[in-house]
Amino acid sequence: MTVKERLAAQAAEVEVYLKERFGARMRERGVPESLLAAMEYSLLAGGKRLRPALCLSFAELFGAARARAMPFAAGFEIIHTYSLIHDDLPAMDDDDLRRGRPSNHKVFGEAAAILAGDGLLTEAFGCMGRAWPGIAADLVLPALAEAARAAGAAGMGGGQALDMDYTARQGVTLAELARMQALKTGALITASCVCGAILAGAGEEGVARAREYGEAVGAAFQIVDDILDEIGDAATLGKPVGSDREQGKNTYPSMVGLDESRRLADERVAAAVAALSPYNGPAAEFLRDLARYIVERVQ
Ligand code: IPE
Ligand code: IPE
Ligand code: MG
Ligand code: MG
Ligand code: MG
Repeated sequence: MTVKERLAAQAAEVEVYLKERFGARMRERGVPESLLAAMEYSLLAGGKRLRPALCLSFAELFGAARARAMPFAAGFEIIHTYSLIHDDLPAMDDDDLRRGRPSNHKVFGEAAAILAGDGLLTEAFGCMGRAWPGIAADLVLPALAEAARAAGAAGMGGGQALDMDYTARQGVTLAELARMQALKTGALITASCVCGAILAGAGEEGVARAREYGEAVGAAFQIVDDILDEIGDAATLGKPVGSDREQGKNTYPSMVGLDESRRLADERVAAAVAALSPYNGPAAEFLRDLARYIVERVQ
């Protein structure tokens, strides 16, 4: 199987959990139909499910049963989906297409899109908490703290704030760009890796290597996202191209050009692969292949 097929197989496992477990819980609790419709519109719209695949694969790498890590892994996808809904809002990137469909606010309106994002973000932590009792509380709790920190004001939220501050601003430095991207995209990708390791009871070195891999893959992932916004195909990506340029975003291609952007992404992929050098077996192979796939991807 190609790495793309292996990723798709993991996405299918996540899909089942999101639909049948998370969705069923929301229904049982009586989430208002209109709110649930807006939440599920974006959550069940496809997507590569990269973050849960990373979490499940790191859990497997360090010896945990994948099924036990699933509630936590799915939580990362739920947080990610919230971030996409809010990222597309007119006050932010003002994008009309996401995951091959009209953006959430185009269908449900801005108030519903904001509330769908709020609902997803909060419920994600409840979902993650359900990794207990399958996994011991002294592993689930530090993983929850890690996830909260990555999603929060000093993580993804802070990165999105810097992204907005830097939009249409001259003189942003490469160091500022790198930090902004490490926060808005890198933090959640890194936490997906680190939490998989924590949940499996990996030792200090294992967690440190998961972090090193996650930071490198996260950086490469956003550089490629910026490249695809310039030269990708909207139908394949399922989101607009040329949006960054239109909004006056500071990106790698706008600051250093396409060739240098590709070189920097390749450099980070090599660092990610190197971080996993002590490990063998199917999960390690998948994670190495996935790092390489991130720079070749067209969607
Ligand atoms: C897009 O993420 C937003 C970024 C952080 C760059 P993905 O490219 O993982 O989007 P989906 O989940 O596959 O739709
Ligand atoms: C978004 O970065 C990162 C998030 C936290 C959602 P972008 O704004 O470049 O993501 P896309 O290109 O809209 O998916
Ligand atoms: Mg954005
Ligand atoms: Mg955007
Ligand atoms: Mg982008």
